[in-house]
Amino acid sequence: MKTHSILLAAAICAAACQAPVPQDFNVIPMPESVTVSEGSFKAAGAAVKIDENIPDDALKAIVRFASALEKASGKKMHEGEGGFSFVLNRDLGAEEYAVNISGDGAVVEASALSGFVYATETLKQMLPAGIYSGKKASGPWVLPYVSIFDSPRFDYRGMHMDPCRHFWTVEETKKYIDVMAAYKLNRLHWHLTEDQGWRMEIKSWPRLTEVGAWRSGTMIGKEWGSSDGIRYGGFYTQDELREVVAYAAERGITVIPEIDLPGHMLAALAAYPELGCTGGPYEVWTRWGVAKDILCAGNDKVFDFLADVFAEVVDIFPSEYIHIGGDECFGGDAEPLRPDPWDVCPKCAARMHSLGIKRGPQAKHYLQNYVTARVQKMLEGYGRKIIGWDEILQGELAPGATVMSWRGIEGGIKASERGFDAIMTPYTHLYFDFYQSKETDKEPLAIGGYTPLEKVYGYEPFDGIKPGAEDHILGVQANLWTEYITTEEHLEYMLLPRMCALSEVQWCAADAKDYQRFLQSLDHTFEILDAMGLNYSLDHKGLIGLDRLPAGE
Ligand code: ACM
Ligand code: ZN
Repeated sequence: MKTHSILLAAAICAAACQAPVPQDFNVIPMPESVTVSEGSFKAAGAAVKIDENIPDDALKAIVRFASALEKASGKKMHEGEGGFSFVLNRDLGAEEYAVNISGDGAVVEASALSGFVYATETLKQMLPAGIYSGKKASGPWVLPYVSIFDSPRFDYRGMHMDPCRHFWTVEETKKYIDVMAAYKLNRLHWHLTEDQGWRMEIKSWPRLTEVGAWRSGTMIGKEWGSSDGIRYGGFYTQDELREVVAYAAERGITVIPEIDLPGHMLAALAAYPELGCTGGPYEVWTRWGVAKDILCAGNDKVFDFLADVFAEVVDIFPSEYIHIGGDECFGGDAEPLRPDPWDVCPKCAARMHSLGIKRGPQAKHYLQNYVTARVQKMLEGYGRKIIGWDEILQGELAPGATVMSWRGIEGGIKASERGFDAIMTPYTHLYFDFYQSKETDKEPLAIGGYTPLEKVYGYEPFDGIKPGAEDHILGVQANLWTEYITTEEHLEYMLLPRMCALSEVQWCAADAKDYQRFLQSLDHTFEILDAMGLNYSLDHKGLIGLDRLPAGE
């Protein structure tokens, strides 16, 4: 939960209460308090003064802002007084900022990189959308006199990206990060391994990408059993991974890598069949769904493999949290009559026996707890914490794990009641691979479901959470799986503007949300997205699908 500069907040809030936010203040997510007054500040070509105590990373964010303004306005900024003044204010929390624009100039205060990133993103949203275009654009390049204090509701404000089902280049990933930064999200959950492709170079296990990054084809649409026969794949080199991590970090975003285990590992098994219960052979999957074959929990070589993989993961990703997956390990849907490998594998049986796990329907969950706990220990050795999908709660989860509640809100409720931290990503509201309208014949193919913009906006993360357990809810994230998404245009259509609605769920106090005000602000956001070269959905306006067909015709 947020840290507060209480005195400053109280002072500004007192002012904000007197003056309602004007109709044309279109910043998303809406800052905590805003007071606009008569008058405007000429931003183009203004003087800039930067406090010498501001750290280098924050300085870079300020320079990025000034340079975007210079490019868009065509006017050079210069060092001096009376214009923008960027001040280090150690009384503010790391993600807080204050902006005060008056006849004396524009004073921007924060204590760290994140606060300066958010302050400059707010300033950009208050200027004409052309500031996002990277080239000269029409003004006016003025800012209203305003007093803003801002602070997020949740510490964890995530968006997930799936480069496994379909691959997204480094440049495409950076574009995704840019729009996350524009709406003040701060965690990119990067799902790097899957049945359909392993996407992270691991130097100690090279076949993971030599073999595991490539599939022989992809099923066509929803025709189960079909394949287009076209070899498909790709992966990120470690240099590329570091480049993305650094790019995100400069924008206040931590990349949380996911190595999904022990399920969703078919690509790794295809590369190293000895890691599976049967020994294979296995193939990188060409269809969607839940595969039967998973890592063998009875084979010590699997833990050597995981130790090597995570040694390289922690070397590249500085994130405090590493996601270890844990979802959908059992009951694979492709071979309904075949038993789960852990039920019939002698090595897994021997492991259960040595752990004293009794046979029965819960046995697999306890064995998964053992795998989770071993990986958790490995990562704790590096000073890291684990996040796992809510299946890790089944059986007996070791203390210190964070649960990502995706099968609804129940995982988050149970986790928080049992003393675990949780991140809310319920599929009911926050799966952006779901359709956005009911006229699905006009929409590009989606996995199913129905998650329109208003439903995302209306999500309340504390619903169902017991009073007193709220502090365990670290935050909120939306997930965007890409089984049916093959182009950037489609990816962005699924992401936007739902991610903007998500940003208010993550950032704004529950009673500060207002869907009508948000909808009004969206028109400016669409100009911003146009300037950024991003596609978006207008389904909520009755213009359905990529071709924007009128509803009901
Ligand atoms: C998931 O959607 N399988 C976490
Ligand atoms: Zn086994």
